[in-house]
Formats: sequence, C-alpha cells, structure tokens
Amino acid sequence: GLKIVTIGGGSSYTPELIEGFINYHEELPVSEIWLVDIEAGKEKLEIVGDLARRMVEKAGVKIDVHLTLDRKKALKGADYVTTQLRVGQLAARALDEKIPLKHGVIGQETNGPGGLFKAFRTIPIILDIAREMEEVCPDAWLINFTNPAGMVTEAVLRHSNITKVIGLCNVPIGMERGVADLMNVEPSRVRIDFAGLNHMVYGLDVFVDGKSVKDQIINLITDPAKAVTMKNIHAMGWEPEFLRALNLFPCPYHNYYYKTGDVLAQELKDAEKGETRAEVVQKLEEGLFELYKDKGLAIKPPQLEERGGAYYSDAAVRLICSMHSDKCDIQAVNTINHGAIEGIPYGSAIEISCVITKDGPKPINVGELPVAIRGLIQQIKSFERVSIEAAISGNYDTALLAMTINPLVPSDRVAKLILDEMLEAHKDFLPQF
Ligand code: NAD
Ligand code: G6P
Ligand code: MN
Repeated sequence: GLKIVTIGGGSSYTPELIEGFINYHEELPVSEIWLVDIEAGKEKLEIVGDLARRMVEKAGVKIDVHLTLDRKKALKGADYVTTQLRVGQLAARALDEKIPLKHGVIGQETNGPGGLFKAFRTIPIILDIAREMEEVCPDAWLINFTNPAGMVTEAVLRHSNITKVIGLCNVPIGMERGVADLMNVEPSRVRIDFAGLNHMVYGLDVFVDGKSVKDQIINLITDPAKAVTMKNIHAMGWEPEFLRALNLFPCPYHNYYYKTGDVLAQELKDAEKGETRAEVVQKLEEGLFELYKDKGLAIKPPQLEERGGAYYSDAAVRLICSMHSDKCDIQAVNTINHGAIEGIPYGSAIEISCVITKDGPKPINVGELPVAIRGLIQQIKSFERVSIEAAISGNYDTALLAMTINPLVPSDRVAKLILDEMLEAHKDFLPQF
C-alpha cells in the first residue's frame, strides 16, 4: 500500500485528512500515514495522532498511523508528502495580522504583509524538506497546503530539484460547493473553469450540467446573504454593476483587493474586540483539542467546520486518488504555468483547472486573461517572486521592495514601519535576516 507523510501532523486539520483517507480507502490503498511534527508541537501531535488511530480503528480500515519528530525517517520511501505546517504556530499568525493593523494596513496572513512574513518563515523549511525528499524519497509527490501556498509552490519549483510538487487550496472546491448550494444541486454537477493565482483565482465560467450559469451566479452573489465565502472571510456583497462588468466569478480573497477599505474597517472593529481571525482560531483550536482528547471520540467532530480549511481533505484525497489511478478528471491546483496563462512567466506557479494524470496536473490553457484582471494578477505574481527572493536571500532591501509592492500597502514609508516591527517580532524564526 501507499505511504503518506504529513508534515505539521499536529495541526487540528489532521482529522479532516484522516477522514478523507478513510472515505477513499477502497479506491486508494493507503497502508501507512506518518504524522511529523516538531518538539513545540509534540503534545498536539500526540492528541491528534491518538484520535487518528481511533478513527481508522472505528472505520475498520487497515492504516498504520505513525507519530514522529524525526522527519527524515518518516520521509524515507514515501509516496506522497503533504505539508500543513505553521512555523511559529498561531502566536506568529496573531503578529502577522496585528502588526500591520496598527499601521492601518490589513495584515492578511496569506497574501498581505502577514503572508509575506509567513513566506519568510516557511520557505527555508520547505526547501529543507525538498532537499530531504530528493535524498530519501525522490519519486514522491509533494502536495503543499502550507500558506502562502502559491509562493511556497513557486519557491520549490524555482529553488529545489523537485519537480513533482503541487500546491493545494480549498478555495476552488469551496467555490464549487458554494455554487452547488446557491443552485440547489449536488456539487458533482458543478464545474468551474478556474484561472489565476492562489487566493487570486477567478471562475472564468461556471457550469451546472455543462450549461453556463455564470450570469445567474454573478447576480446572486451581489447579495451579502448569498456570498460564496469561507469561514475566515466576512460575507460581503458586490456592487451589481461592477460585478456584471467584471463578468467573472471572484474568489473570497478578492474582497481584500476590490473592497480594501471596507475590509480594513471591519478588521479594525474585530481587533478592538480581540477578535482578529488569529484570536478566533486560537480559541477554536483550544476547543477542538479538548474534544480530541476525549477517548470516546472516533470521528472528525463537526466543530472543525468552523475553520476556513473546510473540504481540505476532499481536495487532497481526491487529488492523490486521481494521480494514483490516472483518472484524468479536472481539478484546480497550483502548478507550473508552462504557457497556460499568457503573460505569466513560463516557470511560475499558477492556480488553474488541470487534467489530473498519473504524471501530474496538466493545466488547461486559457491564453490571455481578460484585460480587467490581467494587471492585478501580474502585480501579485511580482509580489510573490520578490517575496521569495527576499525569503531566500534575507536581503533587507528586497524585503522592503516586496512589502511596498503589495497592493494592500499604501507607501514605502508605511511598508518600512511594518517591515521593521515584524522583523523584530519574528526574529526567532527568521535566521536568514
Ligand atoms: P498550526 O498552527 O496548528 O500548525 C500545524 C502544525 O505545524 C503544528 O502542530 C506545528 O507544531 C507544526 N510545525 C511548526 N513548524 C514545523 C516544522 N518546522 N516542521 C514540522 N511541523 C511544524 O496550523 P493550522 O492552523 O492547523 O494550519 C496548518 C497550515 O495549513 C498553515 O500553514 C495554514 O496556512 C495551512 N492551511 C492551508 C489551507 C489552504 O487552502 N492551502 C487551508 C487551511 C490551512
Ligand atoms: C481558507 C484558505 C486557507 C486559509 C484558511 C484559513 O480556507 O483557503 O488557505 O489558511 O482559509 O482558515 P482559518 O480557520 O485558519 O482562519
Ligand atoms: Mn487557501
């Protein structure tokens, strides 16, 4: 059977992943799952690992669950490696979100100033993992869930010898499910043609049973009550005239770019109440681990759905399944562009609908993107590339350049204030600077 290794195994999302492997067990013969963490996450690893064992036992599937702090030992001979780690844990995320807010800037832990620092903390470690994989499991696929997933994927593509890497996000599957709910149909009847970047992806068209419903969806989601969003992003509507003219299905993260002032005002209010997303998630996590400790629990508790990563297991296990069996179905993932989107570098990571084959995802070419979004996507890609360069070199000037060209940051002066404060706050996790 297959050997799966999950790095950051102590994450509260792990039961989600285990549930996926249980549900797909007939199709996907997984025999061992190795959950890897570090000393700081040992307690969480043991609690969630114990629950994982109870889950497989109750389901009656034969999967050995191993827990370890020895990453290299775990990686040896792996078939698929999934990464869901958070360097510095949620305390670091709280800083990512709060420091920029003090300067009147949205923190956003994946694509704002917060995401820049999450990239600084994460990229060196992911490149270590890639080097170890080259040595002990050169044929394995790396499926990266760690944010900022687009940047992390591109860093591996450009700065490691690993070519078998895929970045995965639950936003595309979440948007398909959102459409299914709005249209009152089964999710399997919905298809969206996706193109863009991670957390910057658009539905170019939306289908139910192969018939476009894009106009209907665009009309519906102008109403905040019908917003297609995730638990971590407040539901907000759209100006109907704007959305009709855009004529695309935006992803939840587009709120940060097309409604910057409104999101900032909301986040300042949340922060005042001690309800930044990091703080909300810290409480959620505490409650989840209390539940996980209960020896009577042997399923994924529904409370996990309060996290933004809902359907992560579906996305991950579906992907592995289709590669394993050469299914050639269509799924949206982060992969190397290779000319699929014109105007984005050939070697860059993009998020796009792909045919999922035994030798990986094959992007479905879209050519030129509509002119209204082309520039923003290129700007974000520039931000990502400069960020990666700074994460690797530890060069201060490059870091300031990355911070300043992020569309959420208003000036070089404010960028510098935020950068300096964040470099200091995160210094224990930033040996490169
Ligand atoms: P978390 O704070 O629980 O961290 C997960 C685990 O990573 C912890 O147990 C921690 O100890 C461990 N860890 C930290 N540094 C490590 C290292 N160097 N090696 C191995 N393990 C290490 O985080 P979480 O909230 O459960 O989220 C996990 C990750 O998944 C985050 O990076 C988050 O951004 C990402 N995520 C991605 C998506 C997506 O759509 N791609 C969705 C949800 C979450
Ligand atoms: C969404 C995104 C993830 C992100 C998550 C945050 O699902 O796709 O990339 O990490 O939300 O959720 P959280 O519960 O941690 O705020
Ligand atoms: Mn995501």
